[in-house]
Parts: sequence; structure tokens; C-alpha cells
Amino acid sequence: MNALQRDLKKLVPLVESLGAEKAAADPHRQRFHIQPMVGWLNDPNGLCKIGDTYHAFFQYGPFDVTGGVKHWGHVVSRDLLHWEYRPVMLYPDEPFDCHGAYSGSALVEDGTMYLYYTGNVKFPGDYDYIRQGRGHNVCLAVSRDGEHIDSKTCLMYNKDYPAGLTCHVRDPKVFAYEGRYYMVLGARTVDDRGEVLVFESTDRLHWSHINTLTTPEPFGYMWECPDLFALDGQWFLAVSPQGIKCQNIYGCGYFPVCGDWRGDCTLGEFHHADFGFDYYAPQSFVDGDTDRRLQIGWMGMPDADYGNPATVAYGWQHCMTLPRVLTHDGQGHILQNPVPELTACRGAAVALPDGAEQAVDVCFDLTAAPAGDFSLAFDGGLTLAYADADRTCCLTFTDDAMSGGRTSRCVKLDAPCRRLRVVGDASSLEIFLNDGAAVLSTRYYPAGAPTLRAANLDAVVYPLNL
Ligand code: FRU
Repeated sequence: MNALQRDLKKLVPLVESLGAEKAAADPHRQRFHIQPMVGWLNDPNGLCKIGDTYHAFFQYGPFDVTGGVKHWGHVVSRDLLHWEYRPVMLYPDEPFDCHGAYSGSALVEDGTMYLYYTGNVKFPGDYDYIRQGRGHNVCLAVSRDGEHIDSKTCLMYNKDYPAGLTCHVRDPKVFAYEGRYYMVLGARTVDDRGEVLVFESTDRLHWSHINTLTTPEPFGYMWECPDLFALDGQWFLAVSPQGIKCQNIYGCGYFPVCGDWRGDCTLGEFHHADFGFDYYAPQSFVDGDTDRRLQIGWMGMPDADYGNPATVAYGWQHCMTLPRVLTHDGQGHILQNPVPELTACRGAAVALPDGAEQAVDVCFDLTAAPAGDFSLAFDGGLTLAYADADRTCCLTFTDDAMSGGRTSRCVKLDAPCRRLRVVGDASSLEIFLNDGAAVLSTRYYPAGAPTLRAANLDAVVYPLNL
């Protein structure tokens, strides 16, 4: 252990113990979503399951509620809903990761965790830190017990990447496939195009660049947090592209892949993964020995002009989405639905009669089968309104205290909206339309347990016993 790690290992628990009580007293503290004990959280990292324990790591800034130098925070769970804090897994404590242990993923073999991540380094000088002055290194941390790091090494520096790239090459997602290992890395080219680099390895340590995935026409200047996976035999490339036109400052979605991504292939049409205000950098993983693919996203948006002042006042910011099950609709679209573990927590159903105001629990799960136009108001300050004529559903804030600066987001559905599900936690709503064909995720800040009022909708609300 080096001296910096030794001291960070003392400092982080100290700031946590100083801030935890205040954060826990926040009425908007989430009940069943991953959130930082104190400070800042962004991307999910290293999602995996070992034995019957799920591990989730996250970009963690314990010293700064607005970001700061990134560590890998660590939580574990048996049911994907109750998460327990573990000590920080990765500290930015080596020359190759000293400005942040940035995002990455986990490969698990024989119970050993191989954590691939980006070592962020900023060299001193007058640099733009895009074309010059930054190191984005692929690093590997190995843990045999899922709690302590046995070794940390740097596998690739910027000089090891293909020519024509800026310094921005990051967020390794690693997986095993057909007897080999593969890694996808998000990249920004010198002519400001986003793309994904594909590397191959036979030993997990030495990597060769075998392919580059991109669109024929430029699609944004940088693709962050790539993920590559198959659902029912169809491959998808998920990315968070920056510099595309969409409702949020940055996009987040996926391309179906046609052909073999190790060689000749093309990317199909880009689909947005979520139409709400707060969704970015999701990561998926296979749930142990099952073939269930789960995905968790960051319920936030970098550089947005809205925020979370209500929680910042309590010294913490951001959370993850619920873990969602991904399935393929057979036509190149991914369906996202809350893990069934949530349904098991439902209490007795309460009807929400059309037109009547009704207080619900802080944590609730609402379902309805709309027959046409409808609206659903949350605490009089946020409305979900659907118009059958153009199959458009909009989420609109009308109350500044509730919104943190959020305004309105819409989605046009491929089919009329006939299924609605809303999962609420103390300060988030995740809205699933047509069995997960479209999702809107947002943070919101109701004064207490919210009051709902539906119009032209017979909904059923289940309190969640968590
Ligand atoms: C995405 C991202 C990643 C990076 C990490 C740093 O939100 O910018 O590309 O690795 O956050 O925290």
C-alpha cells in the first residue's frame, strides 16, 4: 500500500462519518436506490454477482458534493433493492490514475474480480486536456475477496491506442465471449467523432485492437461508457454520445448491431434509452448463472442546467436507477422493466379513483392500463400527460421547488400507450410505458409523501414495503 492510499483509506471514512448523519436526515434520501453515503455519485461501474451477492461500484466523489476526484464507491445487495455500503474499492492513488479512478467494469472468473477502469491523469501545463495534456489509461485492479485489492496495474496508455484519437479514450467494458476476452472503449477522434474501439485478448492482460465501431455519418463528438451485449441473439452497442441533438445536453441509447462486431458490421438506427431528465452512462451485466441481463443507469445528467439543490443542501447528490431487466422485443428495440424483486415488495393494492386526489406512500409502484388520453399529476407540481392522437407522452414540471430547474420532456411512442407503470422513491420517478418500450426517469422533490391525481385513468397504487 502506498502512503497516499494509506491516508485516503483513513480520510474517506472520516468524511463519511462527519457527513452521514446529515445526509441520512434528508427527507429526500432515497429508500431503495443506490446513493452515496456523502458527496457525489455518477456512473455505475463493475456491476457483477459473486455467489448470491450483487456488487455495484460507482463513481464517487466523497470530498465534494459537486464532483471532485473520483474513487470507486462500493455497495452490495442480495435483492437489488437493499444496498449496504462497503469500504471504497479504488482510490486515485497511483501515478496512472491520480486524477480519478474513472469508469469501468468487472469480469468475474473463479470468484476473482478483475476490475478494468480508466486511470485519469492531467499533466501540469497549459493544455486543453482534450487533444493534449491528459492520460486516459486502461487499468486493472484484481480482487480475490471482492472487498480488497490485491494488485493494481496499468495495461494500456494513450500511445497504445490506434492513431487519430484525442486523449479521450475511456470506460472499458470487458466480457468473455467464445473463449476470448473483449473490451470496448469509448473514444473521441481528432476530428471530433465519437466511436467505440474493440480490443481482444486471450489472457485478460494483453489487448489488441481488432475493430472500430461507428456510424457512417458523424454522430456526436464523443461516445462515453460503451456496452456491448446480446439479447436473444441480437447484439446491441449501448453508448452515451455527447454532441448529438436530443432533449438533454447529452444522449444515451443503443444501436442494434448488424453483422459480427469483430469484423464486418454496421450499426442500425440509434434508439434513446430513456426520455426523462436524468439518465446516463448505464451498464449491464448478466445475473450470475441465469441468462437475465440487468442494467443500472446513473439517474443524473452531466453538465445539465438543472440539478438537485434539495439534496446538495444535505451534502449528497445523485443516485442510480432501479436495476432493470433488459429484453429484446424481436424488432431491434430493447425493453426495460424493473426487476421482479420489486413486485415482491408490494403491499396491499389501493385504487386511485379517476379524478380524486390521493396521498400515497413515499415509495410506491403504480400500474394502469390507459385506454386513450390521460394525465397523472404528482403533488400538483409535476404532470405526466399522454395524447393518443399523436402517441406523445410529456412529463412537465410546474413547481420550481419540486423541479430543481427541470422543465419538460416528451416521448413519441411507436404504439398507443396502453400500459403505464410508475415507480416512485423519495426523490425519483421512473415511468415505464408499454411494458418498458419507453422509459422516463427523473429526480423530483415533493414536500413529503406525494399526492396523486389521475384524469381518465384507473390506476392501482401499491405501497412498497422496503
Ligand atoms: C460519464 C463519465 C465517464 C468517465 C466518468 C468520470 O459520466 O464522464 O466517461 O469515466 O464519467 O467520472
